Amino acid sequence: MNDYRPAPSDKFSFGLWTVGWQGVNTFGAAARPQLDPADAVRRLADLGAYGVTFHDDDLVAPGSDRAARDAAVKRFRSALRESGLVVPMATTNLFGDPIFRDGGFTSNRRDVRRHALRKVLRNIDLAAELGARTYVFWGGQDGAESEAGKNDRAALDRLREAYDLLCGYVREQGYDLRFALEPKPNEPRGDIMLPTVGHALSFINELEHPEMVGVNPEVGHEQMAGLNSVHSVAQALWHGKLFHIDLNGQRGVKYDQDLRFGAGDVKEAFFLVDLLESAGYDGPRHFDFKPPRTEDMDGVWESAAGCMRNYLILREKAAAFRADPEVIAAMEAAGVGELSRPTLDAGESVADLRAEELDVAREGERGYHMERLDQLAMDHLFGVR
Ligand code: GCO
Ligand code: MN
Ligand code: MN
Repeated sequence: MNDYRPAPSDKFSFGLWTVGWQGVNTFGAAARPQLDPADAVRRLADLGAYGVTFHDDDLVAPGSDRAARDAAVKRFRSALRESGLVVPMATTNLFGDPIFRDGGFTSNRRDVRRHALRKVLRNIDLAAELGARTYVFWGGQDGAESEAGKNDRAALDRLREAYDLLCGYVREQGYDLRFALEPKPNEPRGDIMLPTVGHALSFINELEHPEMVGVNPEVGHEQMAGLNSVHSVAQALWHGKLFHIDLNGQRGVKYDQDLRFGAGDVKEAFFLVDLLESAGYDGPRHFDFKPPRTEDMDGVWESAAGCMRNYLILREKAAAFRADPEVIAAMEAAGVGELSRPTLDAGESVADLRAEELDVAREGERGYHMERLDQLAMDHLFGVR
């Protein structure tokens, strides 16, 4: 019997801000004590994670002087060394401080934008020092509540200016670091710029170094926009742009729930794991969730362990689904493999194509047998096969 015990080779990682979330929200004060980053590292390693990620402010309290900063980094580093955990990704908090309430890179105030860039540059140096290979950008405050106060096209110019400058810096320094943009439709702003994976992918094409920039889709963020996260991730993979991923759970179009992975839309989670595994995605499986306010610290660790456990269960179920002879036959009947065959054979011309005719009446009557295939997937998911 598989006990679904995670191992470092599974590449599970967690943000310090996830297990460290104290439960502060719009309606309530902190429900849990502060978590020391070094304790988080040790605890995550015990649970079987391989990596930990952070915002600058998660590691070094804002306003710390040089000595306090160095001490915090040193403590974190020794916890990493003892536990064997790595830092695959880092990011910047450009949303918490009230100075960012109109955005970081796209604030109407130029001085704020300059401050935001300095904050990122500083943390990019630390990220590189700690061996991170991916730097995530989530511009949660880069948006608006009203069209009146924001010139969207100018904001896009400023966003491009910021990424071009930061890519240039990384190249100059010779850091082995790529950028991943994280889309979200809303919250905290009424509307956020680059609201979906599709928007981010098209924006990347306008940058000076598009090859350095990919996406960090978050399951729940696509779902908040009413989109299917599996399709978004598939398209990111197709473009070669899935540089990182935030796994979590969400139930429908509402506020950002950040449930543990697998809670929320289970079927979508199943097909997402199936996609990541069958596409050979080899990056971190990063969990960006918020243990609910109902939980004490024991509940926090239960919730973190649940993220990994659910991924491993779904991975096993997806593999069993793919290997099931009845599924293979049902896929054949549904024509799943046929889509991989180019519509025209090599050497075929438009004239060849035109010379042929489809039996429209017959084709219109043929079913695709997709319900049978989908039911087999659900039988696997329910554990009855
Ligand atoms: C959110 C976001 C953040 C980002 C994080 C990393 O909705 O709060 O998902 O958690 O992922 O800031 O950039
Ligand atoms: Mn989220
Ligand atoms: Mn996220």
